[in-house]
Amino acid sequence: MTPPISGASSDSQALEAQIRAALDRVTLPQSSQGLIAAGRIDGMVVREGNVVFGITIDPAEAAVMEPVRRAAEQAALAVPGVKSVSAVLTAERSAGPGTKSGRPTLLPTVAQVIAVASGKGGVGKSTTAANLAVALAQSGLKVGLLDADIFGPSAPRMMGLTARPEMTADRKLIPLQAHGVAVMSIGFLVAEDNAMIWRGPMVMGALEQLMRDVAWGPLDVMVIDMPPGTGDAQLTIAQRVPLAGAVIVSTPQDIALLDARRGIAMFRKVEVPILGIVENMSYFLCPNCGHRADIFSHGGAHKEAETMGVPFLAEIPLEPAIREAADGGTPVVVSAPDSQSAALYRGLADKVRAQVGTAPRAAPTIRGL
Ligand SMILES: Nc1ncnc2c1ncn2[C@@H]1O[C@H](COP(=O)(O)OP(=O)(O)O)[C@@H](O)[C@H]1O
Ligand SMILES: [Mg+2]
Repeated sequence: MTPPISGASSDSQALEAQIRAALDRVTLPQSSQGLIAAGRIDGMVVREGNVVFGITIDPAEAAVMEPVRRAAEQAALAVPGVKSVSAVLTAERSAGPGTKSGRPTLLPTVAQVIAVASGKGGVGKSTTAANLAVALAQSGLKVGLLDADIFGPSAPRMMGLTARPEMTADRKLIPLQAHGVAVMSIGFLVAEDNAMIWRGPMVMGALEQLMRDVAWGPLDVMVIDMPPGTGDAQLTIAQRVPLAGAVIVSTPQDIALLDARRGIAMFRKVEVPILGIVENMSYFLCPNCGHRADIFSHGGAHKEAETMGVPFLAEIPLEPAIREAADGGTPVVVSAPDSQSAALYRGLADKVRAQVGTAPRAAPTIRGL
């Protein structure tokens, strides 16, 4: 049984029980066994009537299980109180050759993959991911940045990239280079303001292409800017990519922290280590006088990290220079390397680096170690 996510209300727990009962009435092909009894439902998240879960399958079963997936969505949607359902087929991990710690090897040329995640959008996840990636590159590592937020790609804007990627002879996309980082984003292929309606399988198809059909080459570390939330795309990346760990970005407000908690619960469920929490927009740094003002109840993420037993990685101020730099295509660690904010991002990079134990492939000069 999947334990309820901490912070879930008793309402959603009751709803989850009803959904499970409904799912157990959906049977496997040529069997009378229900999905619950068969132990096929995994990673269910019920939130304000929005439901996400995985159906574990053998990779060979994908075609026959697709109708079951649809039936499961219908069954869950028929439960009163359920507003939306997203069911994904997730292939069982096998610890065979070509897998690392039991996970399938997407990104085989990348030594360490780090997810930057948040429970909701607008908390500064992409800004953190961009600055972290560049700071890691500045410390001498070969770094990639994968913008996996296919609903709202921001790497083109934040890294100042407008070109379209070229292709290799074997039809792989060549990442664009900015500030010493190899970058790939769906935003290079479709216009940023082009509203896209992605269905579950398309999301995964697009994400897989950004990993499999890109000539990433040997990298010490890849930073993945995850889509916001804890839905099917997040769950599938967490299951399919050999993640070394996840960095959770939150603002100090309680509501964002509640979302951060869900993010942590999701990664824990799929056994991805939480590298820690970053509190973004932690306090306001006045550009005129340098005065520091705690406009939100500052320190919430720090306390939350303690409660959840995960490391607290950094407090990044709300600072106009960070936004101007990020939105102008040159992250603050490049545009103002001597600023306090740049130093904070470098500190974050050092902590991440210490935790995942990245050693550079070549022998560059390493700063800050
Ligand atoms: N610490 C910060 N100080 C000032 N502005 C910030 C900071 N972090 C993010 N921003 C700005 O907030 C907006 C949302 O940030 P973004 O990184 O795109 O969030 P997310 O990826 O979580 O949706 C952007 O305009 C960004 O420049
Ligand atoms: Mg973003």
